[in-house]
Amino acid sequence: MNLQQTLPDGVAAQIESPVVYSLYYDLTHAGGNADGILVLTGDAALLFEDGVLIKTVPIRDAEEFICEPGHGSGALLMRRGGEVSYLCGFTQGKLERFGKLAKMLTFTCETGRIPENDDPHDHICPKCGRPVTSRSGDCLYCAKKGKVFLRILKMGLPYKKKLIIGFGSAFAIELLLAMTPMIQRMLIDGYVIPQRAYLPGFLGVCALFAGAYVATLGLDIANEMCVHTLAIEVVTKLRVLVYDRIQALSMAQFLKRTAGEIITRMSKDIDAIQRFFHFYGRRFITHVFFIVLISVILFIQNWKIALLVVLPIPLMLFLAVATGKRMHLTREVAWSAWSKSSSVLTDALGGVRVVKTFGTEERETRRFANASDAWRVRITKAEVFWYKVIPALIYLLALGEVLVMFFGGKMVLGRELTVGELVQFSAYVTMLYGRLHWMIFLPRSLSEVAVSAGKVFELVDERIDVTDRKGAVNREITGAVTFDNVSFGYSEYKPILKNVSFTVRPGEMVGIVGRSGVGKSTLINLLMRLYDVTGGSIRIDGEDLRNLSQECYRGQLGIVLQETFLFEGSVLENLTYARPDAPFEEVVLAAKIANAHAFISKLPDGYHTRVGEKGYTLSGGERQRIAIARAILGNPRILILDEATSSLDTYTEKLIQDALGRLTEGRTTFAIAHRLSTLQNADRLLVFDQGRLVENGTHEELLRQKGVYYSLVMAQRQTSRMAPVQK
Ligand SMILES: Nc1ncnc2c1ncn2[C@@H]1O[C@H](COP(=O)(O)OP(=O)(O)OP(=O)(O)O)[C@@H](O)[C@H]1O
Ligand SMILES: [Mg+2]
Repeated sequence: MNLQQTLPDGVAAQIESPVVYSLYYDLTHAGGNADGILVLTGDAALLFEDGVLIKTVPIRDAEEFICEPGHGSGALLMRRGGEVSYLCGFTQGKLERFGKLAKMLTFTCETGRIPENDDPHDHICPKCGRPVTSRSGDCLYCAKKGKVFLRILKMGLPYKKKLIIGFGSAFAIELLLAMTPMIQRMLIDGYVIPQRAYLPGFLGVCALFAGAYVATLGLDIANEMCVHTLAIEVVTKLRVLVYDRIQALSMAQFLKRTAGEIITRMSKDIDAIQRFFHFYGRRFITHVFFIVLISVILFIQNWKIALLVVLPIPLMLFLAVATGKRMHLTREVAWSAWSKSSSVLTDALGGVRVVKTFGTEERETRRFANASDAWRVRITKAEVFWYKVIPALIYLLALGEVLVMFFGGKMVLGRELTVGELVQFSAYVTMLYGRLHWMIFLPRSLSEVAVSAGKVFELVDERIDVTDRKGAVNREITGAVTFDNVSFGYSEYKPILKNVSFTVRPGEMVGIVGRSGVGKSTLINLLMRLYDVTGGSIRIDGEDLRNLSQECYRGQLGIVLQETFLFEGSVLENLTYARPDAPFEEVVLAAKIANAHAFISKLPDGYHTRVGEKGYTLSGGERQRIAIARAILGNPRILILDEATSSLDTYTEKLIQDALGRLTEGRTTFAIAHRLSTLQNADRLLVFDQGRLVENGTHEELLRQKGVYYSLVMAQRQTSRMAPVQK
């Protein structure tokens, strides 16, 4: 709860302690409308209605806070001394936030600490007081967009040769273009008006005119080639960098985003950066140069008309900057809508089997259509606003051209200006306004690039929360595992594992037992260091897990899960995923140990058969045996089996149990299984209940204790007619 919320002045003035959180509520106890705000200071909840403090509730002597849902509404309640009292009421839309608040408050009651708020939507910009919706914590109103563009341009710096040719040719083109109206003037005033055609001078000027165009064309081709390849090279490098960062994200950081969000970043956003390089960035610089150059020429030629020409420029720049700010926000909203529709797409594609089996294709199409429609509404809003402003700006520019023709024409008639000079002037004005016209569209284009680049850099800059420490050790482990007072919660205020301590000897096989949702897989996640513990430590061979190099450590882990993920590719590629250089004989041996060789040999191309996306061309049991062979080939010191055999028929399970029996020999093994009979080979069982390790012993010992394990076994015997569990 680490945020400062902007409070109405009247309310803020009444609070003495620092505010850590505040939330608006909108119902009275009787169900009427209320204009209420709940403000949390470090130790009390203050309730204000219509700006008046109506209640002060000390937090720490409470036992629990409860968010109770009702019909279309909810209430925040507090339990203290066995009594439940009402704090405030709110409509349905606020239910989720109050639910979270109740959990956070309960955490504070229990621990005395204020938990970290991990919801980005709860953050408020300290500068402007608006909610901060970006995950990076940067306020979209206050963030400096210039920095983003500079950073994109900097990515081009390593390509110096291309940059020099690209910009050099672009400037040369602008200079040549700036020369052409002068040549036109020479032609008109020197030869056309005096009717001195067909003289060598006339032909010479014509040739100069043509030469300037040909040179421009040549330079343009060189420029396009250079800038285009530069943009592609930068973007390819960026894509790989982003992908590398995605791979480095911790599991928690990964799960914060949907696949759609990540795909949008990798495709649409990086495309926008490419466009910036190819079009906007380069042209912006050369166009500004051109506008300044032409303005100077115009002022030298005739300052009075020049003044008329440049008059609309400041107003136009002001409007462009002002609209650009607004565009940025509407683009940001449109970006979120787009990534949501991409998420619907990736979700439905990933779950295509579920969609097909439930026959919900139409519903999925509707879901996608709705998400796309949400994007349409938002982007149309952004564009409509833009198109309301644009015609006004363009007319403003057209007015300048009319003024030039009017006053210029008058000056020609008064012989203050030659026809050639007027033509030159008018050509410059057309060129100048052409560039300005392009500049008007710039905020619109740049707002898209700024949002996209912001999203990409947000990912690139994300601080990885599970990293190797400095001097992380690479070492072979024997597989001794100690959990020392380990606590962990995916959110700080919602602990899953509490003060868990146990030791496992190298080569020992332990079974992890407990009801669904008790935290068994979470324990394994911690052991694999997909997450870091929030309290205590995990030690491997006496060394804190956080001091080991992740790559080296994970190379010594073997994992077989209930759902095996195979990559698109051949059986062989999947088998050797952890050890791509494994000799073929070893692969076959591993497959034989895993009882997989027989079925692999029967596949159309044997080990070279392609398994299709996610291995869908193989059966569940076949995929699992490949996973076992893959683990065997890695020769792990610690083996993790999470429900590795739960969904198989007894014959296949027997095959896999045999394979696993061979795999677990001499390795520290952690096995999770709901079907307790599958843990019969375990040396010891660790039994969890409500996040705590409650029993630790052999099957017989635990049965004799008649505790949690005993009741689990009894329940299974009764409900599943399973064979008596014997060791
Ligand atoms: N990534 C996550 N983010 C937030 N909460 C999670 C996450 N993964 C699991 N949980 C929650 O943590 C608790 C423990 O989950 P876990 O997967 O460890 O249970 P389990 O003991 O393995 O259950 P099962 O036997 O059903 O596999 C559950 O309440 C679950 O909802
Ligand atoms: Mg699990």
